[in-house]
Amino acid sequence: MERQGQCIAVVSGKGGTGKTSFVSCVGAALAVSGRQVLCLDCDVGLRNLDLALGLTDRALMDFSDVAQGRCTLRDAVVEHPKVPGLYLLTAPARLRGRAVTQTQMQALLREVRTRFDYCLLDAPAGLGSGFQLATCGADRCIVVTTADASSLRDAQHTVMELEHFPNGSLHLVVNRVRKKMLRSMHATLDDAIDKAGLPLLGVVPEDDGLNLCLNRGVPILLADGLLAAAAYRNIAIRIQGGRVPLLRIR
Ligand SMILES: Nc1ncnc2c1ncn2[C@@H]1O[C@H](COP(=O)(O)OP(=O)(O)O)[C@@H](O)[C@H]1O
Ligand SMILES: [Mg+2]
Repeated sequence: MERQGQCIAVVSGKGGTGKTSFVSCVGAALAVSGRQVLCLDCDVGLRNLDLALGLTDRALMDFSDVAQGRCTLRDAVVEHPKVPGLYLLTAPARLRGRAVTQTQMQALLREVRTRFDYCLLDAPAGLGSGFQLATCGADRCIVVTTADASSLRDAQHTVMELEHFPNGSLHLVVNRVRKKMLRSMHATLDDAIDKAGLPLLGVVPEDDGLNLCLNRGVPILLADGLLAAAAYRNIAIRIQGGRVPLLRIR
């Protein structure tokens, strides 16, 4: 039987909130739990998902090549050597020729759904054309924010752009949460949920080890003892419809 996968856009508005980390870590967690997962970098010109996944220089063809018919999906995706079932479809390193249209992206994602259980679309910062491309064919969106005011305001604006998504298809992830911050600002998480107006999918703690892992291209799930890894694994379970309690931030 043909798969009927889900395409999930990971967005934020503000840059640097942790979208790329989220896509690589949750993508790895989903693959480890037996799913076929495609991580799709939508950041034309500033792609870096290949780095986070440790797949630099492996991808020769990008999503524009597939969307515009220069190669097949099968030819363009790269499987992770250490995580079976985890694939990357990279973004063009620079824009050449015509930009991929929303219609072309939607057609690409229709094919992606027949081959993969999950496709995580790593959106660029901002609400421009890259954001539109990442969300135009998605079934669900996850807004990644940190708990600070400017990130939350951008999340709010992002949510307004996503109004056309049906109820239940938008979720919030609060990243880089510190216990101290939670204690001192008591209502921060509730504030975040209220401000964004979205249900919470997960909370990811601040974790110094994350940067190191991503720079070495080791998906964090393979690195033991990282607190953030547990958070990403929990989120992967919730994406698949499972229930786990919110991670206790230490
Ligand atoms: N939970 C976290 N703890 C510590 N550092 C983090 C965390 N999440 C993201 N970072 C760091 O923040 C920076 C930006 O993350 P990235 O995933 O590239 O954001 P984006 O894709 O939204 O621009 C990276 O250096 C990353 O390692
Ligand atoms: Mg990014």
